[in-house]
Amino acid sequence: MEKIGIYYGTTTGKTASIVEEIEFNLKKDVYEVKNVADGLGGIEELKNIILVSPSYGVGELQEDWEDVLQELKAVDFKGKNVAIVGLGNQLAFGETFVGAMRILYDAVSERGANVIGFTSIEGYSYQETESVIDGKFVGLALDEANQDDDTPLRIENWIKEIKKNFI
Ligand SMILES: Cc1cc2nc3c(=O)[nH]c(=O)nc-3n(C[C@H](O)[C@H](O)[C@H](O)COP(=O)(O)O)c2cc1C
Repeated sequence: MEKIGIYYGTTTGKTASIVEEIEFNLKKDVYEVKNVADGLGGIEELKNIILVSPSYGVGELQEDWEDVLQELKAVDFKGKNVAIVGLGNQLAFGETFVGAMRILYDAVSERGANVIGFTSIEGYSYQETESVIDGKFVGLALDEANQDDDTPLRIENWIKEIKKNFI
């Protein structure tokens, strides 16, 4: 399998811990981790990409992701597999749960990405989200405030699924 690139942004650190847990599940694979506060360097060369953002504002991207969104939209994603992870809080922000995932999804799919890793909405309880298409989340939704006990298994199962599609 070709190298996997993990790009993430974090404001209060929860997403950085999630990335460590993703790494734990990738230990036999070649991967690199980049905080988007340092830019998107190297993304053009990768075929296997994981994008991770919490939601802020009203279902919006984390601020370092906001800063690189135009750069992301300029990347040619044809031939690349992209998997998305969103952190959010379904009780406190139940009308915009993990909205940032949709922004990343739209940005990369408009540029031809093969977006993989859609997941079931079962087991979550939110009112609304932009991040569901045809009844599935466009990536892996994680809620460290309310469902952190579910996170390790959700990540483990999801990584197994997306690795089937990585090149
Ligand atoms: C001001 C503020 C706005 C937020 N807005 C949303 C939101 O719209 N949707 C959502 O699902 N979570 C929202 N959250 C929850 C965060 O996404 C969640 O706490 C996340 O784990 C933070 O990740 P981080 O520690 O990596 O920054 C918000 C949190 C804060 C403090």
